[in-house]
Amino acid sequence: MKFYAQWKVILILVLLLNPYLWGAHQVNINVYADQPTIKISPKLYGLFYEDINFSADGGLYAELIQNRSFEYFALDCREALSDRRSLEYHPLVAWEKVERGGGRCHLKVERTVPLNRNNQNYLAIYIGESGSGVGVRNSGYDGIAIDRGASYDVSLYAARWEGNEPVTVALESEDGKVYGSMTTQNLSSDWKHCQGVIKASQSDDNARLTLTTTGKGKLYLDMVSLFPQKTFKDRKNGLRPDLAQSLADLNPSFLRFPGGCITHGCSLQNAYRWKDTVGDVAQRRPNWNRWGYHQSYGLGFYEYFLLCEDIGAAPLPVLPVGVSCGYNKPYQYVPIDELQEWIDDALDLIEFANGSPDSTWGKVRAEMGHPAPFELEYLCLGNEEHDTPEVRERIPYFVKAIRKAYPKIKIIGTSGLSEHKPLYPLMRELEVYSSDEHYYNAPEWYLENHTRFDGFQRKGPKIFVGEYASRDNTLFNALAEATYLAGMERNADIVDMACYAPLLAHVNYRQWGANLIFFDKRKVFKTPNYYVQQLFSQNRGDVYLKNVIKHGAEKLENSQSSMSRVFLSSTLDEEANELILKLVNPSEQDVRARVQLEGVRKVASQARVIVLSGDKRGRNSMETPEQISPQVTTQAAGRQFECLLPPMSLKILRVGINQ
Ligand code: AHR
Repeated sequence: MKFYAQWKVILILVLLLNPYLWGAHQVNINVYADQPTIKISPKLYGLFYEDINFSADGGLYAELIQNRSFEYFALDCREALSDRRSLEYHPLVAWEKVERGGGRCHLKVERTVPLNRNNQNYLAIYIGESGSGVGVRNSGYDGIAIDRGASYDVSLYAARWEGNEPVTVALESEDGKVYGSMTTQNLSSDWKHCQGVIKASQSDDNARLTLTTTGKGKLYLDMVSLFPQKTFKDRKNGLRPDLAQSLADLNPSFLRFPGGCITHGCSLQNAYRWKDTVGDVAQRRPNWNRWGYHQSYGLGFYEYFLLCEDIGAAPLPVLPVGVSCGYNKPYQYVPIDELQEWIDDALDLIEFANGSPDSTWGKVRAEMGHPAPFELEYLCLGNEEHDTPEVRERIPYFVKAIRKAYPKIKIIGTSGLSEHKPLYPLMRELEVYSSDEHYYNAPEWYLENHTRFDGFQRKGPKIFVGEYASRDNTLFNALAEATYLAGMERNADIVDMACYAPLLAHVNYRQWGANLIFFDKRKVFKTPNYYVQQLFSQNRGDVYLKNVIKHGAEKLENSQSSMSRVFLSSTLDEEANELILKLVNPSEQDVRARVQLEGVRKVASQARVIVLSGDKRGRNSMETPEQISPQVTTQAAGRQFECLLPPMSLKILRVGINQ
């Protein structure tokens, strides 16, 4: 009797929990494998990189010393600043005085005998009593994270006045325990470049780099660098491996860099001028950026091109067009008779990337270690330029000059602010290759606008969705973006490229709310939005296949309806001979999909399945980095099969076929 009662409870539970039985929403899906509609752009998914949220220094750039050349100063472009620390910056940020065993010294940042004209500040340490050592130490970005057994390259410029005592450079704990050190030799009053390697005897998340000396007189220091030898692809002056790997794991077809608003600058004075960012790092002119912090430019255009090469992405450099960021009123613009210098920047960049090592700028590239060209194919003119007479007047000069000198370069123009794309008609007149549109809208906007490109003119520039996001990093936001991506795939003959923005954010140095990847000095976590990007990118397919979805009596061809409860993209991976179905259910109900595959001779009996699902408001964090992450499984397939789409889910099915 007891046994019978238990079974009754189980049966009731099964009935209650089984969506097939209590009436999950049902859709019928037909996919026509023999009816391709369009070819999908092979460059569809890529990356937007901007130095925002400390993405470069303190982030992707593996340098561990903050403010290595003592060039920080207070930033007062107030209306543009989003980092509260901006107004408090000074040349000794991240540095502190060290006085040991009765030593006394005085620190002063001077400019009397600069290292070079781009690097004006240096630190002068005036020794009062040397004790057992006086000097400075650097705390990096919230302390330096080091690993036991790892080797670190040390590089610094030093000069000694009234003495030639060496400098001891040590990796230490916060309370002075030494983990490894090196010593400089033969210092004099001329600047000397000193280098060495320190192997860490212990791991520490909060280490310091300490530089001390003894004797009398003064010690000058500049360009103090501590670089892990382990970088992405073991490049010198390279990138943090975990962060670079998380970019590579998105399988990007292109990388748009270096921004964003930092490109055109808060004012013309701090516009991003790529020539400042190449050559010897000690000779690069540092800059500050529109997000309210300083950039060493150690990660510069050469390093961005290398990154593209290392992750197999086409480089998409963005150049300013002689008008500063329109958000900062009054904006500035270069007089037309001075515009040539800015146009030359564009022409010279193409030579830097593609020119022979005998050309002026090709030689710079070759001397930096890359004699072979980078094979630049695209150039972006302007970021999201505001629709002003000055922008309208200047862009055509760039287009004309680039076309004349480099007719094969594909020029990517700007559609201007928002989904209304005010500058798109100008881009059509200029006949640029594609036009870059940007929007940061609510998730509902993406759900309602997944049909945006269905009616787009096929003549004229292609569309580059160069910045978009739905303002938060919950699963629901990610799924809203997924529905929009399904719409892009359906139109990927005209939507040529797309990238989410921004890409990276340091959790403690953040100027933007929603981002794709978060990190601190040690760890990384990826957002649900990241996984959506990754799953679409890794499962793109080569051609789009006609599909019909029936929601009850409603019949929707190629899921073209803002009423859809299920969003679908059906594509074919020609090489693998696999049909790829990407199904998005952004509702809080189960959906039961009946799938019918048409136009195929044979269909595999099993499908590979990847699911991203969870709570609508679910998000990842440093503590729960994998809370919302893809799960891989299999399910029965065939010419006809059923597929349950859990609430708030993206489900990708890959089914082998034979046509
Ligand atoms: O992605 C962040 C910012 O948003 C970019 O710098 C700018 O282009 C846009 O306004």
